[in-house]
Amino acid sequence: MKAQRNWLTCFLLLIVFPLTAQQKAEVVVNVDLGKDTISRHIYGHFAEHLGRGIYGGLWVGEDSPIPNTKGVRNDVIEALKNLQIPNLRWPGGCFADEYHWMDGIGPRNQRPKMVNTHWGGVTEDNSFGTHEFLDLCEVLGTEPYICGNVGSGTVEEMAKWVEYITFDGESPMSALRQQNGREKPWSVKFWGVGNENWGCGGNMTPAAYAEHYRRYATYCRNYGDNKLYRIAGGANVDDYEWTETLMKNIPNRMMNGLSLHYYMHTNGWMDKGSALLFDDNDYINSLVRTVYMDELITKHGNIMDVYDPGKRISIVVDEWGAWYNVEPGTNPGFLFQQNTMRDALIAGLTLNIFHKHCDRVKIANIAQMVNVLQAIIMTEEDKMILTPTYHVFDMYKVHQDALMLPVEVTSPVYSREKKKLPAISATASKDKSGAVHITFVNVDPANEIDITCNLRGMVSGTVKKGQILSAKNLREHNTFEKPDAVQLADFKGAKYKNGDLSLKVPAGSLVTIKIQ
Ligand code: AHR
Repeated sequence: MKAQRNWLTCFLLLIVFPLTAQQKAEVVVNVDLGKDTISRHIYGHFAEHLGRGIYGGLWVGEDSPIPNTKGVRNDVIEALKNLQIPNLRWPGGCFADEYHWMDGIGPRNQRPKMVNTHWGGVTEDNSFGTHEFLDLCEVLGTEPYICGNVGSGTVEEMAKWVEYITFDGESPMSALRQQNGREKPWSVKFWGVGNENWGCGGNMTPAAYAEHYRRYATYCRNYGDNKLYRIAGGANVDDYEWTETLMKNIPNRMMNGLSLHYYMHTNGWMDKGSALLFDDNDYINSLVRTVYMDELITKHGNIMDVYDPGKRISIVVDEWGAWYNVEPGTNPGFLFQQNTMRDALIAGLTLNIFHKHCDRVKIANIAQMVNVLQAIIMTEEDKMILTPTYHVFDMYKVHQDALMLPVEVTSPVYSREKKKLPAISATASKDKSGAVHITFVNVDPANEIDITCNLRGMVSGTVKKGQILSAKNLREHNTFEKPDAVQLADFKGAKYKNGDLSLKVPAGSLVTIKIQ
């Protein structure tokens, strides 16, 4: 009898109080406290000679039946133009320190071939070289970011590359460029002095690399108006000694940026996990590892502050993203992985961290653009699809070059086992027209969150637009058969009154609201 009564009480309680109470978060956007700009260059991309990243993904050649502009597929060009991509890093990655640029100029059928030893041991025919890359950047209206060869190259080789591309006067290199069909120089500001020189770029000690860097930076000259933005090869993840040694041994004036590479693997380098087949524990591990970026930037930044308190030298996160095991049956050297709603959330969390540190992080490049790692675009023969990560870049483009508005977030915690993180991450900015954009990322896969967001310092205005990226579940992804399983949609559920914005952000989704 007593047991029956208890059951009845439980039943009645469940009707009155559903199992999961509505979760609430409070956000304050300090509209009047913005001082730093979110450089559009943190929305940069990266295309390496790796797998189908360049060949097939971008370059199909002028004679291909796939519609192309100067050999680069038109569908990909259109998709990239829509994102307003600010810069494109090339030719690597590890490939950069094995690449000899002179092999990639002149008539294509006469270019020497090489073995791409890092990535699958395939033969590289050098048909996509300096001219093809820079022409593509012109078509896209994006700034080239070239990574030079320190590991197996010479100072002379890199200095001549700079001269070949940017020198307007009469010189052996500018004559060679003209002979190859380009009369006027290109403008290329961003130059990386090697890549991962602690590893695939020469296995150097930080002190040895600093010496090499000084020589390279000396002989890579500014020609005419082309002022170089020299980027030193930075640390592997949390190698703070690398940062300390470089900051100590390279005079500030010789370096504009210091790179940082960090890839998120589900459980670490030895257990990268699957892009598609992940469980709830893998999911929270991926998120916790993603937000580690915040600590990395803070700690590398603290070291840089000692030597460069004015923050003249930027952190350039020129490789970041999720790196899983390759899809079964694909070439292990091609790093092809699928891309799900989880990756969209990872991208959102990371971009929010870059915004937060926009006084120091001025350039970043997600790895990689097409068909490789956390790709924004995938191709198969003549077909192309956009991934959930693409849609995040589309949603976030409103923040490019906007004034970062500091936010304070009080959020419910999303936890599993002993891992936890705030369910809501938020970022906000004000663009040149005065419009405020606020993006909320809800990483909780099960709970919608009711958000009250106070826009401190702004009482007038109305909701002009809302966008949402969400999916049936975190494993949802786009395929060539179902290309729009995950796509941006209008979000109508936001209300703004007397400085307070209220909205419910669905489980595992990203929402951006425009108020003006
Ligand atoms: O993006 C793939 C590889 O990851 C790059 O070539 C290298 O720089 C990094 O280790």
